[in-house]
Amino acid sequence: MSSLVAGSLIEAPAGLEGVVVAETTIGDVRGREGYFHYRGTDATDLARTRTFEEVWHLLLVGHLPDDTERDSFAARASAARARIPARSLGEFADQIGGQDPMGKLRTVWSRAAQLLDVRPWGTLTREERLDQAIGVSAIAPIVVASTHGIEAATRLDTTDASTAASYLAAVLGRHPSAEQIRALEQYLILTVDHGLNASTFTARTVTSTGADLGAVVVAALGALSGPLHGGAPSLALEMLDEIAIPERAEPWVRGQLARGQRIMGFGHRIYRTEDPRATLLRASALQLDTPTAALATHVEEVVRRVLDEVRSGRELDVNVEYWAAVVLDAIGLPRSLFTPTFALARSIGWVAHALEQMQGNRIVRPTARYIGPASATDASSVDQPDAADS
Ligand code: ACO
Repeated sequence: MSSLVAGSLIEAPAGLEGVVVAETTIGDVRGREGYFHYRGTDATDLARTRTFEEVWHLLLVGHLPDDTERDSFAARASAARARIPARSLGEFADQIGGQDPMGKLRTVWSRAAQLLDVRPWGTLTREERLDQAIGVSAIAPIVVASTHGIEAATRLDTTDASTAASYLAAVLGRHPSAEQIRALEQYLILTVDHGLNASTFTARTVTSTGADLGAVVVAALGALSGPLHGGAPSLALEMLDEIAIPERAEPWVRGQLARGQRIMGFGHRIYRTEDPRATLLRASALQLDTPTAALATHVEEVVRRVLDEVRSGRELDVNVEYWAAVVLDAIGLPRSLFTPTFALARSIGWVAHALEQMQGNRIVRPTARYIGPASATDASSVDQPDAADS
């Protein structure tokens, strides 16, 4: 659906599909080409050849670091981590209770951000903003590990230069293999940013109000938790559990679609091809060579074929979440940490966008068309935007 102009108002399509609401130099997603990049460099190449920390620097500072820049960036990240008492954060997480990992995560991250003394962005200098931006993601491994228990939180070696290695060791409680670490690192690099997805847009919206970076991250976590966004990988794995054997794949998929259900890990707002992140993660999963990877290959082929038949006309292909689930499972991460681990990486994209939003910021405040019962004084049913409102 294309945009319609009604008077001075622009009517946007449902889900804001195809609407440009910001300019960015952070990266781009090209749905028809099946390609995405970070600051001009193919993101899948970065995942193949670079470390997570180098890509983190690229996103926040704007270029890949030289040795001196890498060390100074690492020192700023360490300074932030040093402010977080892992044990008491783990205890705090334990007290929250509840079964929802993302609910727990947003509560713990909020608390940890307070310990970093995050302040409303309008009150900060550019360097202070960068410090807080580095800090809020630097503490992510401690925050996520805390939600997994006090032992994981206290095991985390905050002096290890590799986020993937220290995080995985803390969560698994043993030394991971080089192959497992590299698979996680590639996953993290592939998921740091991806255009103006729902959580990143949320991050920019909250930033635009002048709120602090803790608020930005917590709001974005809420958006990421939904199954139409970042909450799909554990559901994709549950689907593979239910299918269990190749022969059950086709009846299961057909049954699901007949009941009007979606197949988790398929479809994407932007991609009309295979998601390029899925391509690399599939290769990674097959290299890790687990029985789930073999089943996933078969189920993927079935889902593609059946979707093509049942939903012909709509290009629905595999997305990042499907193969991410298989990779994260193969390296031993519990399902409860799938979406939190995604958040660990994506927090970098959120804060990069928050930094960018602050350049020439204007509060995000669209308009809704009122379609309810007419009010007594009604002349127009359109909510006219005010200069300042609540
Ligand atoms: N299975 C079956 N049908 C689907 C699927 C799917 N996975 N995805 C979309 N469709 C169908 C919809 O039912 C709809 O059909 P209709 O026109 O007959 O009603 C049509 O395709 C278009 O769907 P929309 O929801 O309009 O597509 P949109 O671009 O808004 O949604 C989304 C993209 C949310 C990812 C969707 O494909 C989906 O729900 N996928 C499953 C959940 C999932 O994998 N989430 C992770 C996304 S990746 C990420 O965020 C990191």
